Amino acid sequence: MKKILITGSNGQLGSSIKKLELEYPNSSFIYTDVADLDITNKDEVLDFFEKGGFTHAINCAAYTAVDKAEEEFELAKKINAIGPANMATAARKINCKFYHVSTDYVFDGKGHIPYKEEDACQPPSAYGKTKLIGEEMVSQVNEKALIIRTSWLYSEFGHNFMKSMLKYGKEREELRVVFDQIGTPTYATDLARAILDIINTEKNASENPVYHFSNEGVASWYDFALEIIQAAKLDCKVSPIESHEYPLPAPRPFYSVMNKAKIKKDFNVKIPHWRTSMLECLDILKPKN
Ligand SMILES: NC(=O)c1ccc[n+]([C@@H]2O[C@H](COP(=O)([O-])OP(=O)(O)OC[C@H]3O[C@@H](n4cnc5c(N)ncnc54)[C@H](OP(=O)(O)O)[C@@H]3O)[C@@H](O)[C@H]2O)c1
Repeated sequence: MKKILITGSNGQLGSSIKKLELEYPNSSFIYTDVADLDITNKDEVLDFFEKGGFTHAINCAAYTAVDKAEEEFELAKKINAIGPANMATAARKINCKFYHVSTDYVFDGKGHIPYKEEDACQPPSAYGKTKLIGEEMVSQVNEKALIIRTSWLYSEFGHNFMKSMLKYGKEREELRVVFDQIGTPTYATDLARAILDIINTEKNASENPVYHFSNEGVASWYDFALEIIQAAKLDCKVSPIESHEYPLPAPRPFYSVMNKAKIKKDFNVKIPHWRTSMLECLDILKPKN
């Protein structure tokens, strides 16, 4: 029987893992968030792992306020780098497999071919920098830790782009959305299932255990917004704009599509297209009669 610790479990990814729990009867799940286990507190983390005897730990805890991170670099670093390193150290000590989640925002976004795991990282934002430091610190203290980079996460839980579009699409006549940032939306349920399936396969990761996971396909935020509004049958115009017309504190990569060949090859992970998953999430979010 696997004993899996989930940290940051009230967030989008953690909640999505909870949703899938019953599909994995060979595992018991222990859910914590900052009130139960603050991952930045090293002693607490070491103690929690030693007493818990977990076989696997998935870190869903993060500082994800991309724009705020420009002003709160140290806090973001503490949560996105020191915390994960604490978990990676504690996991290694008790021989527990550790799974950490990172982001496409580690790339500078100047490319035009889907990024591979070994491509150079040069994050333009403070958030991306803290996540990259997190990856490096985790790998340093625990070379077997598996790091999965994902992108544009949305779900029926918490705050995210899809929920904002549905809200504003009902309230406004027009939504102006950037069309010059290209990436791939990822339904948190699909990421959660991929991680749990990887754990279930019991296959070993490659020597450089960094992997990319997003849904299939490519979109701009404009395309994503348009699909959401049309699928939800909302009477709202969606217009494409350039990033400079919607300035934000944190710079975003213009292109952050990730190549997922490695995760598919090593773990035989099946990945739905982003449109298919968007419709699945919409179906959960739409008001029921
Ligand atoms: N969201 C995206 O678009 C996106 C894109 C690419 C990659 N990712 C990565 O995917 C992962 C999951 O993201 P998500 O969207 O599920 O994040 P999320 O919804 O923001 O959830 C993060 C959770 O971590 C908790 N947390 C914060 N500080 C903590 C601490 N010190 N100790 C324990 N828990 C703490 C948060 O609690 P509070 O809410 O109380 O702070 C929250 O419940 C993260 O690693 C993120 O960087 C996300």
